[in-house]
Amino acid sequence: MQGKMKAIVKHTRGFGAALQMVDIPAIDENEVLVKVKATSICGTDVHIYTWDAWAESRVTPPYVFGHEFAGEVVEVGASVTNVAIGDYVSAETHFVCGTCPQCLTGKAHVCQNTKILGVDVAGCFAEYVAVDASNIWKNSKEVPAHIASIQEPLGNAVHTVLSGDVAGCSVAIVGCGPIGLMAVQVAKAAGAAQVIAVDVNEYRLDIAAQIGATTVINSLQQDLPTLVAELTAGNGVDVVCEMSGHPVAIDQAFKMLAFGGRISILGLPTAPVSLDITNDIVFKGITVKGITGRLMYETWQQTSGLLQSGQLDLDKIVTHQLPFEDFEQGFELMMKGQCGKVVLTL
Ligand SMILES: NC(=O)c1ccc[n+]([C@@H]2O[C@H](COP(=O)([O-])OP(=O)(O)OC[C@H]3O[C@@H](n4cnc5c(N)ncnc54)[C@H](O)[C@@H]3O)[C@@H](O)[C@H]2O)c1
Ligand SMILES: [Zn+2]
Ligand SMILES: [Zn+2]
Repeated sequence: MQGKMKAIVKHTRGFGAALQMVDIPAIDENEVLVKVKATSICGTDVHIYTWDAWAESRVTPPYVFGHEFAGEVVEVGASVTNVAIGDYVSAETHFVCGTCPQCLTGKAHVCQNTKILGVDVAGCFAEYVAVDASNIWKNSKEVPAHIASIQEPLGNAVHTVLSGDVAGCSVAIVGCGPIGLMAVQVAKAAGAAQVIAVDVNEYRLDIAAQIGATTVINSLQQDLPTLVAELTAGNGVDVVCEMSGHPVAIDQAFKMLAFGGRISILGLPTAPVSLDITNDIVFKGITVKGITGRLMYETWQQTSGLLQSGQLDLDKIVTHQLPFEDFEQGFELMMKGQCGKVVLTL
């Protein structure tokens, strides 16, 4: 399809982004063109928008960023057989090589040659996005676009929570940003005995309480170790999902874990973090799992299944739906942490 489209462009090696008219992307034979209906702002996009050290080292403006979306396929490449015009879709945002040892052994989520939509290649903060057909996920028509758009981060939550036993366990979600909030609901749906939500942001703890956390703890204002001990008969929690990336929270996360417990770490600290390996990992005999992306495509199947089961109340997590053109307001909300998930609609 030829022509121009509206796009939010990371236009400069500095703060911000600009709404511009750019060329509609041309697709190659393995790609499809999707007309975007909803696109959500991820923490990664905030890094790019604010132009922090990570963004500076990783992305090359000018380019269209954004990677979370739902929309309708309007064009398919000549070799595409699995997707048709009119399909209602979202996409796995990690493009993998298919030939490295990890891809060849069913671990494509840790492909050595991963390229990320909206980071390494042009993204979906636009009226149209080109995506490799093998990354397309077909959505049920019953799932509204603002919810289908957030399946990618929801998949992070699902992958983290379900990377070990949950049913009947005490689970702590450390860091209740959008993904932590989703994890609260996933843990509940997976049968956790209790879900303890920890953050330092009252706005987000309020949402955690509304969506089913059994206890919410503001670790700046309350005595976290004492409360966790009370809630777990002195044993500590069976499972911690670390979703803050904050070094203090990471230390607390290891300390609150029961002997023999499991900690799954999604959060990304910006610098190396020191750990008491002897006392907090080895002698406690715990399992530490690093979580990146989503299992391809097991996590997508689990996520779809949970969505269709009606057990996730994501409308309370999507706190803001804004017109696409009001993206600056969306980024402001994200930078202040006065939001759950922010979705831009087209
Ligand atoms: N591994 C991956 O594939 C992957 C993918 C997406 C996001 N991430 C990372 O996962 C984390 C969660 O993502 P998000 O989008 O929800 O991020 P976010 O930054 O919106 O949320 C982090 C939350 O942690 C809270 N927090 C900060 N300091 C804390 C402390 N000391 N104790 C408790 N909570 C604290 C913040 O208030 C915030 O609510 C981030 O670190 C993000 O970079 C990793
Ligand atoms: Zn994302
Ligand atoms: Zn690979």
